[in-house]
Amino acid sequence: MDKREKFIEEITKGYTFKGPSITLGAAMLDKEPITNLLVKVPLKTFNRHGLIAGATGTGKTKTLQIIAEQLSAAGVPSLLMDVKGDLSGIAVPSPGHPKIDERHEKIGIPFTPSGSPVEFLTLSNEKGARLRATVSEFGPVLFSKILGLNDTQGGVVAVVFKYCDDRQLPLLDLADFKKVLQYVSDEGKEEFEKEYGLISTSSLGSIMRKVVELEQQGAELFFGERSFDVNDLCRFDENGKGIVSIVRLTDIQDRPKLFSTFMLQILAEIYATFPEEGDTGQPKLVMFIDEAHLVFEEASDALLDQIEAIVKLIRSKGVGIFFVTQNPA
Ligand SMILES: Nc1ncnc2c1ncn2[C@@H]1O[C@H](COP(=O)(O)OP(=O)(O)O)[C@@H](O)[C@H]1O
Ligand SMILES: [Mg+2]
Repeated sequence: MDKREKFIEEITKGYTFKGPSITLGAAMLDKEPITNLLVKVPLKTFNRHGLIAGATGTGKTKTLQIIAEQLSAAGVPSLLMDVKGDLSGIAVPSPGHPKIDERHEKIGIPFTPSGSPVEFLTLSNEKGARLRATVSEFGPVLFSKILGLNDTQGGVVAVVFKYCDDRQLPLLDLADFKKVLQYVSDEGKEEFEKEYGLISTSSLGSIMRKVVELEQQGAELFFGERSFDVNDLCRFDENGKGIVSIVRLTDIQDRPKLFSTFMLQILAEIYATFPEEGDTGQPKLVMFIDEAHLVFEEASDALLDQIEAIVKLIRSKGVGIFFVTQNPA
């Protein structure tokens, strides 16, 4: 058997699956694609975690677009984190080009330009539906993690949440939380300590400083009354195609804390709301984080640990997560 035949046999054996699959492209031998020798990934494995890695310009973003398009066509919604702003093209059908036809003929996949149904979401003031969550919804544990508090300070936050809960004081945004902190360290101190025990003034001061730091990253845009439900991510268009939700993050690149806060919140909420799925053969939602190194670079270890823990748990909910990066370390 010559090299080419052996190659074809190996690839065919390795990439033939029962059930539907996503096609990534044609296998290449000696820098040439072999017609009709396709590299595929079974659809049912997309509820797992994946990594798309490669140097800049090697086609990572393109690959993620191709996967998201096919997932959509297969009736699987996805959520794309667009850091560089180069993902929105997925909404527009290609005008076509002789070169594209030539390439597709060579690969062995017919070229059918079709846009995918897209919805834009934003964490800030960009166009699109605003993603928000209230401080109460975060709960004291997550909120303390986001602020990067130590255990003692986290304990204080827990009591402050309890205090608000007992009095039915809403904690919507960071301003609400600051007001309560202020009250508790000042005119409300005596009343508070009678019921909930002593709290250290220095802890209150540290918490306040961390809240201000978070505010300075523009987080007040993100905290507030909800206008978004994670179940909205799992929708379909009138033809049964999965909706591709794109979160534009181009203007928060320099505010990594805001991004990791958002990631943690959305993962925690998916974990809390989605039902257990088991292995259904069809993922419920697939998330892609492009340029993942940019958005996790400055997240604290505690926050990363928390994100990692939820990412592992979320698989049983039928949700897959793919990290796309030039720097997988
Ligand atoms: N499979 C492919 N065949 C031909 N050109 C490609 C392919 N994948 C990507 N490209 C082109 O290469 C360039 C870089 O791709 P991109 O996906 O943005 O890379 P990355 O995200 O890894 O930096 C783009 O102009 C894209 O159109
Ligand atoms: Mg890219």
